[in-house]
Amino acid sequence: MAPQREHWASRFGFVLAAAGSAIGLGNLWRFPYKCGEYGGGAFLAAYLVSVAILGLPVLIAEIIIGRSAQKNPVGAFRELRASRFWPLVGWLGILAGFIILSYYSVVGGWILHYIASTVLSGFQAGLAAGQFHELMSSPARQIGCHGLFMLLTIFIVRGGISSGIERWNKLLMPALFLILIGLTIRSLISPGAGHALRFLLQPDFSQLTRTGILEALGSAFFSLSLGMGAMLTYGSYLDKNTNISSAALEISALDTCFSVMAGLMIFPIVFSCGLDPGAGPGLLFVTLPEVFAQMPGGRMCGFFFFVLVAFAAITSAISLLEVVVSFFIDELCWTRRRADYTLGAVIFVCGIPSALSFNLWSGLTLMGGKNIFDLLDGFASNILLPLGGLGIAIFAGWVLTHGEKEAEIKRVENAFHFYDIWHILIKYITPVALVIVLLYTTGIIGLLSKYF
Ligand code: PHE
Repeated sequence: MAPQREHWASRFGFVLAAAGSAIGLGNLWRFPYKCGEYGGGAFLAAYLVSVAILGLPVLIAEIIIGRSAQKNPVGAFRELRASRFWPLVGWLGILAGFIILSYYSVVGGWILHYIASTVLSGFQAGLAAGQFHELMSSPARQIGCHGLFMLLTIFIVRGGISSGIERWNKLLMPALFLILIGLTIRSLISPGAGHALRFLLQPDFSQLTRTGILEALGSAFFSLSLGMGAMLTYGSYLDKNTNISSAALEISALDTCFSVMAGLMIFPIVFSCGLDPGAGPGLLFVTLPEVFAQMPGGRMCGFFFFVLVAFAAITSAISLLEVVVSFFIDELCWTRRRADYTLGAVIFVCGIPSALSFNLWSGLTLMGGKNIFDLLDGFASNILLPLGGLGIAIFAGWVLTHGEKEAEIKRVENAFHFYDIWHILIKYITPVALVIVLLYTTGIIGLLSKYF
C-alpha cells in the first residue's frame, strides 16, 4: 500500500507556501524590468487584467485538479481520466519544472554572490556594471553559486511538506514582507517618488504595444507559477476542508501586491538617480547596486534587498523541485530523500550549460542568436507554461464534470456567483487568450502574416 500522503499542517501554511512559490524572481526581477521597458502604468494595467482573466482562473483550476486527485501532475490527470492524452499535460509540467529550475538556480546563485559581496566589500559607484560582468565571466563562480543555491533548495525540500516546505515558508515569507515594506517606505521618501508614482499609476496606453501586452500576460503566468503543475502539486497536499476560491484569491492578491510593491520600491530610486527605468534585465544587478553605492545607508539597504530577493527565489525554487520530486515519490515509489538528492543533483548538472552561457559558451548561440540560458527561459516561459496552462484550462473547463468541480469549489450561497464567473472564464476566455499567446510566441502569427 502506498504511504499516506503528506498534508499541510494548516490553511495558512498552504497559502504562505503557495504565495512563496508565486513570489520570486518573477516579481522582483522580471516584473520591474519589463514594466520599465514596456511603458510603466500601461504595462501594469495589462498585467492586472492578465492576472484576473488568465492567472486566477488557471490557479483555481490547478488547485482543484491537485486536490481532487491527491497526486503529482502526471498521476493527477491519470487518476481523474483514464486517457493516454491528459497525463501528457502533466509530463509537460515536469519537463518545465526541470528546465526552469536549472536556470532559475543560476540566477539564484547570482543573488547569493551579491549578498556575499555586499557583506565583504559593499557597492562602489561606477563599478556595478564591471562587477556584474566579472561575475558573469567567471565559470567557477557561476557554477559554485548555482551549486550553493541548489544545495539550499535540496535541504528545504528534504524536510517534506509540513516540516520542510511549510515551516521554511512560514519563516521566510513574513520576513520577506517586512523587508519589502521597509525598503518601499525608504524608497517612497526619496526625491524620485513623485515621478515613479506617476510612471506606475498614470497609465499612458499609447505606450502599450502588442509585445508589451504579450509580455504582461507571460509575466503574470510565470509570476503566479502557473502552467507546470506547481500549484497543482501544492494543491494535492491540501485537505478537503479548505475553501479553494478564497485561498486562490489570497495567493494571487499577495503575488500581485509584491509585484506592485517591487515597482514602488525600485522606480523611485531609479528616478532619483536619473537612471533609465527601461534598463532591461540588468535593472536589478547593475542599476540598483549603482544606486545603492550612491545613496546614504546604501550598503545596508542593498544587503537587505538582496537577502529579500534570495528568500523569494528560494521559496519559488523549492516548489519547482517539489513538482519533480513528487512525481518520483508517487509514480516510482522513491523515498523523498532519494528523489530529492538525486533530482537535485541532476538538475544542478543540467543548469551548468546555462551558467556557462555567459562565459565559456557565450559564443554558442542557437536559434535567433540566443544563448542557452535565454533559449531555455524563452522555451519554458513562452511556450511550455502557456501550453500547460491551456491543457489545464481545457481539462478543467471541458473535461471535468460540474459535479467533480463542485465537490472542490462548493457552490455555497455567496460563492455561487464566483463559481459561475470562474467557469465561464476557464471554459471560454482563458483558453482563447492562451491560444492567441501561443500563436504569437511560437511565431505562427508572424509566419501567417507574411503570407496573408
Ligand atoms: N513564480 C516564480 C517567480 O515568480 C517562478 C516559478 C514559475 C515558480 C513556475 C514555480 C513555477 O519567480
